Amino acid sequence: MAVKSLAYAVIDSADIDAWRRYGEEVIGARALENTGEGGADEVRLRFDERPFRLLIRKADADRFHAAGWVYGSKADYDAGLAKLRAAGVALEPASAAEAKDRHLREFVRLNDPSGNLLELGWGNIVDGKPFISPVGVPHFEMGEMGLGHVVLPAMKLAETRAFYIDLLGFGDSDEMRAFVQGGPDDPGIGFHFLHCDNPRHHSIALGEYPAPSGCIHMMFEVPTLDAVGQALDRAIAAGTHISSSFGKHMNDKMYSFYMRTPSGFDIEYGTGGIRPDWTTFTPTISLKEDEWGHHWNFGG
Ligand SMILES: [Fe+2]
Repeated sequence: MAVKSLAYAVIDSADIDAWRRYGEEVIGARALENTGEGGADEVRLRFDERPFRLLIRKADADRFHAAGWVYGSKADYDAGLAKLRAAGVALEPASAAEAKDRHLREFVRLNDPSGNLLELGWGNIVDGKPFISPVGVPHFEMGEMGLGHVVLPAMKLAETRAFYIDLLGFGDSDEMRAFVQGGPDDPGIGFHFLHCDNPRHHSIALGEYPAPSGCIHMMFEVPTLDAVGQALDRAIAAGTHISSSFGKHMNDKMYSFYMRTPSGFDIEYGTGGIRPDWTTFTPTISLKEDEWGHHWNFGG
C-alpha cells in the first residue's frame, strides 16, 4: 500500500526564536503557544487543520532531521511495514509517547538508502482548532495532499528511487538532469520527482547532490499569486536571503520563488502546481527545470 502524504517535518535548529519569527512573519504559519509536548525547547508551526506541520527542536546545530510520512490507515501501515521488514529494512518503533507527540497513533523510524531519516506512521489526529495565519495568508494547499514536497540529497540516486517506489508505493512523476552551474563541463545533477497517494505532482524529489543541512528544499503551496507575491515582500522586508527569483517549473508548473530558512536549506513558496490524475498520467522526462525564471543566487 502506498504512503498517503508527507504529514510533517522535524528540523533541528540552534536558534528556534529565529524560526518562530521566520515561521510567522515570513512564511505566514502560526507558531503554537504550547501544545504541551515540548515546552520551551521547540517551536511548532501550524499551517492547516493538522496540529503541526513543522516541528523545530532546539539543538546545537542546524539540520533537517526527518520527513514524517503517513499511511491512510492502520491496515496500510501494517502492510507497508511488513513489506519493509521482508526487504530487510531496519525499523525502529517509536514509543507511544513519541507517537502522541507527533499526533500519530504509531510510527517507526527508518533510513532510506542515501541515509535520509524517515518517520513513517498512521493516525490523522486533529484538534478542531482553525488555522488563522498571523499575516493573512488565506490558506495553505495542504490537507489530504500533505505538507508540500521535500527535496532530499540522494547520493545513491537509483537505489533510493527504487526504495521509495518498490517499498513505499511511490510513483514516478518526472526525472531530469539540472545544469545549474552551466558551461560545457557541468555534468548536471540527476533528479527524480515522485508522487504518493494524493494528487500533488511530487511529494518528494531526490537530488544526486550533497546537502550539508540534510535537505535541498521544502515546498509550501498557497492558493493565489497574490499570496506568493506578498510572501516575497515579507521575505525581502525581513532581510531573508532570496535563493531564487520568481519562476515557473517545467514539471509541476509551479509559480514560485525560493528563500533561505534559518536552518540553511531553502523553502520554495509557490502556487498553481498541477494535480495529475495518476490513472491516466504518463511520467515525464524534463529537459530543463523551468519554463522561465528561477534565477539562482546561492550566496547569502
Ligand atoms: Fe520544489
